Amino acid sequence: MRPLSRARRRLLLFVAVVLAVVGGGAVTLAARNGPDTPQPAHKAHTVAYDHYSLKLDGDRVYLWSAEFHYWRLPSPDLWLDVLQKFKAAGYNATSIYFDWAYHSPKQGVYDFTGVRDIDRLLDIAQQVGIYVIARPGPYINAETDSGGFPGWLTTQKGRARSSAPDYTAAYQEWLRHVDPIIARHQFTDGTGPVILYQIENEYGTHTDKAYMKDLKQQVRADGIDVPFTHNHCCGASKWATGGGSVDLPGQDSYPQKFNCSTPDRWNGLSTLPRFRDDAPIFTPEFQGGAYDPWGGSGYDKCRKLTGPDFEKVFYENNIATGVTMQNFYMTYGGTSWGWLADPSHVYTSYDYGSAIKEDRELTPKYDEAKRLGYLTQAVAPLTKTKSVSADGPTNTDLHLTARANPDDGTHFYVLRHRDATSTTTETTHVPIDLNAGTQGGAKPSYPSVPQEPGTSIKLAGRDSKLLVAGYRLGSQDLRYSTSEIMTHGRIGDRDVALLYGRRGEDGETVLHYDAEPSVTVMSGKVRHVWNAGRGDLRLNYTHQGLARVLVTPRGGVPVLLLLATDQEAARFWRQDTAAGPVLVRGPELVRSSVVQGSALALTGDTSAPTDLEVFTAPSVRTVTWNGAPVRTAGNDTLTGRLAGPRPVTLPALTGWKTRAESPEARPGFDDRAWTVADHKTTNNPTPPATSPVLYADDYGFHHGDVWYRAHFTAKGREAGITLTAGTGKAGVYSAWLNGRFLGSSGDGRHTFAFPAGAVAKGRDNVLSVLVEDMGHNEDFDSTDTHKEPRGLTGAKLRGSTAPLTWRIQGSAGGETLPDPARGPFNTGGLFGERNGWYLPGGTGAGWTATTLPHRDKRPGISWYETTFDLSLPKGQDVPLGVTFTDDESRHYRALLFVNGWQLGRYVNDVGPQRSFPIPPGILRTDGRNTLAIAVWNEDGRTGGLGQVGLRQYADLATSLRVSDVTAPR
Ligand code: GAL
Repeated sequence: MRPLSRARRRLLLFVAVVLAVVGGGAVTLAARNGPDTPQPAHKAHTVAYDHYSLKLDGDRVYLWSAEFHYWRLPSPDLWLDVLQKFKAAGYNATSIYFDWAYHSPKQGVYDFTGVRDIDRLLDIAQQVGIYVIARPGPYINAETDSGGFPGWLTTQKGRARSSAPDYTAAYQEWLRHVDPIIARHQFTDGTGPVILYQIENEYGTHTDKAYMKDLKQQVRADGIDVPFTHNHCCGASKWATGGGSVDLPGQDSYPQKFNCSTPDRWNGLSTLPRFRDDAPIFTPEFQGGAYDPWGGSGYDKCRKLTGPDFEKVFYENNIATGVTMQNFYMTYGGTSWGWLADPSHVYTSYDYGSAIKEDRELTPKYDEAKRLGYLTQAVAPLTKTKSVSADGPTNTDLHLTARANPDDGTHFYVLRHRDATSTTTETTHVPIDLNAGTQGGAKPSYPSVPQEPGTSIKLAGRDSKLLVAGYRLGSQDLRYSTSEIMTHGRIGDRDVALLYGRRGEDGETVLHYDAEPSVTVMSGKVRHVWNAGRGDLRLNYTHQGLARVLVTPRGGVPVLLLLATDQEAARFWRQDTAAGPVLVRGPELVRSSVVQGSALALTGDTSAPTDLEVFTAPSVRTVTWNGAPVRTAGNDTLTGRLAGPRPVTLPALTGWKTRAESPEARPGFDDRAWTVADHKTTNNPTPPATSPVLYADDYGFHHGDVWYRAHFTAKGREAGITLTAGTGKAGVYSAWLNGRFLGSSGDGRHTFAFPAGAVAKGRDNVLSVLVEDMGHNEDFDSTDTHKEPRGLTGAKLRGSTAPLTWRIQGSAGGETLPDPARGPFNTGGLFGERNGWYLPGGTGAGWTATTLPHRDKRPGISWYETTFDLSLPKGQDVPLGVTFTDDESRHYRALLFVNGWQLGRYVNDVGPQRSFPIPPGILRTDGRNTLAIAVWNEDGRTGGLGQVGLRQYADLATSLRVSDVTAPR
């Protein structure tokens, strides 16, 4: 971009100042950065905020945001899929962590290409039309290895997340690489989606003000000019005021916590705090699901713990308490592929029980988020409300809160159970007083709603309702509705409003007119009464399927009311086109819509042959779906029929080959090329139990399995060896002496006895140890817990003081990656990994044919490999996975490689994950695929491999196109 002349800069500055003043007290981004941050230059577009809400170019916005981690979906075309799904559900923003470790295998080395191409990610967000909250840490937590710190950072002396000089140099390096890419995509330049930037992450304990201040300074210097945010979780420092403070502080909240084994247990509601009077109430992470640990209860239960009922009650409660910025963590979780998972909290799947499953399927949680999301985007007065007093509902087991927009008097009522965890179904009447909290008075009030005798508001257990009253709905005066508004808009020459309630519940909607309008009930049963004295048209109905009523005021704009059940409502998709809003009913998903002249081009997905109905301007006469014309009928709305996907048959997985490895366990193995492990000191805060230091990270091996070999000249009295290993939760290590298997242990200390006759007195003896590194801990409290050593941490012979000399070998190349496309987390130090067995074409001599299940008593590592061809129908998205089936008492674990990408860590006797989604792009949907599985037989008795098969999760006809992710073979 051409640099601006000084005169132009002055002019822009002037315009920005005028806009800020005209904006009625909006705090511009420059004003709030605290005393310790350089002020950004004024830009053409503004991101500002005040007490009530965020403002983009002066317009208030309800921020309804969905968390996404691109690094958990290594197939860039699927980034478009997920972001389109967010946008289609009414999310106007996505919050994205950028994982430092994913981009930096070695200090000074950064990669932003291929599956790491965040420029492309931000372009896709812009193309989809969704704002971005950028969260590059440096620390991110996120249930990922080291909370996002690169492996090489674990060897630093200085405390991370502090002003320590070595840590400072390291994070500055990261920010200098990532910030300029983010800066190119800022809203303020008019070209990008990035509207906010988070500094650090839940930085509440053991904090360092200078660090926060330096971070902000660095980020501004790197060209970021959007407001800074921070997500408070706990501890004292909220970064709301004073040194180190940010523009928009917010509170993270996970009210249901993370125990998915009791999915019906609800915790009560709480109120999110307002940290500063000049900033809106913001929740940078509100619970959208829950993580599940090794041996956990599985993500279906997490999805239940945080189900649609939870979303409705808790998210509406946030609205009831004045929150106007909500981000949901996670909305699409993805896969902690390779060794990305942090060991204490998660296994490979990061499905998270989210609204969108790991395999990208939409769930009923998505429907609920969509109903609420559409409301937040359609009903603008929600962006500026104050709490007002309201009389209670007639049923005292229920609770009613009221808010009003002080400018236009729109009222919002949230009705819920007094005890939000209650499972009883209640009925009630509520008072609606449109004068409450607004000036001027003389507005009507309705002391008992619903008014129609014999009807009531019904509230099921664990449900709530957000009722809108006194609202200028397009060109109509909505007095109130006991149905919830999903969306509305001016479509052609009429308003269309979509309202919903649960099936079988009464609904009452009152519209105000000067004179009696004409009412046509087009479908469904709807009663209507005109009250001439009040000028109220009252509609009464029971929510059942979809009722349609056309109300035509004399000389005014008609309104088509669509009165739906919540399920019917979820079948509607709203798209905003150049020709105004379009409502589409029927398909599984509508991704995009473009109006050109009289043609409407829609794209999306169907899971079966589906009726299509389009509510659009009368000028639109033809419709295409995924590029093909749709034969449409109807004058009022356009109706047609869409094809579904073709069925898919999957190949059985046969033709298996197997080969045992672990030559490292044999005494004659040549380990001379391995790194000598002889360090006498370490920067690690945990002192080694014995010398030398054996920590894998200290020798540059940060991820995956690590081999050790120790030589000693036996005195003959050696009875065994006591080893201590740091594997992280659910990890394992195995030991051999002179090729004889000694056994395996989990994380921690274990003494392995030497079998009689195993020790060769006076000669060179070799101890071989294979240690699994399940990943580094997070550093949640800023106490360097990510530095907890991995690999061997101590070794002591029993019965002898013979010195041990050590060599170590982890992933090939250590920090210098031989396979940068797949990156630092893809492989560890198994022989087969170091020698490319995980890659397509990785087999050769020495492999023998086998069938599955296969039983194997040889301890250590054996590989299994097969290929299969797919030719899935074109134009279909068929999420597939690889599933393991076996007797869970067998003690083995496996790494699953698909076309060279490690997409699953399976632990047969721990679980719970047995099915591993493989994203298309990695999976060749039209071509040959290679499956390679490295199995670790832990006990030398119950190894081998059970059944392995392909599983189809869904089948969709779609506009989505996915190209193959390229990486070396
Ligand atoms: C928060 C943290 C996130 C994630 C989440 C739980 O504390 O900011 O990164 O760890 O908890 O999933």
